Amino acid sequence: MGEKLVGRTKHGELTLDQLANIQPGMARLMEEVAHRYSLMHYACTGGNWELGHHELKELRGLFRIAATTRPKYAAELASFDREYLTPIDSAIAKKDLEAFTLAAQKGIAGSDEVHRRLGYAFIRYRLPKRPPDHLDLGPGSEP
Ligand code: HEM
Repeated sequence: MGEKLVGRTKHGELTLDQLANIQPGMARLMEEVAHRYSLMHYACTGGNWELGHHELKELRGLFRIAATTRPKYAAELASFDREYLTPIDSAIAKKDLEAFTLAAQKGIAGSDEVHRRLGYAFIRYRLPKRPPDHLDLGPGSEP
């Protein structure tokens, strides 16, 4: 009783508060969001719809982490998901390239709008000019 809960590593002890304080916030999570979005885009336009779907799921997982570590953004993240990620998800389910491209473009414009509204007008995500090249973004062969 009364003992402080700590995690122990070979370097020392961390309290629960210290552990909570080093959970990723927006700056760290958004880097990965941007990376997942780029991968999702190039996978879907390259014909690897399954990979595109996987990246979207991971991106949504990052939004859930963000809503947990930074609850003040939870409503904004949920509304972005509804307005922009759900149509992207539907286009991926139908493998509809035209609908996907349009929905993904709207998502980028939407992210500019959110960042602007939150006081980060200088943060404007753009697709990388070259597709990420460590994963096969093509259709591959059917299993
Ligand atoms: C797919 C959509 C989105 C993309 C691709 C995206 C991308 C980014 C990128 C690249 C950064 C800069 C990270 C850095 O290097 O510091 C950033 C920052 C930020 N984003 Fe997003 N974002 C998206 C959606 C959102 C949404 C929906 C919110 C709503 C809360 C949001 C809130 C923020 C905030 C608050 C920052 C500033 C973080 C900081 O430096 O403290 N973003 N975003």
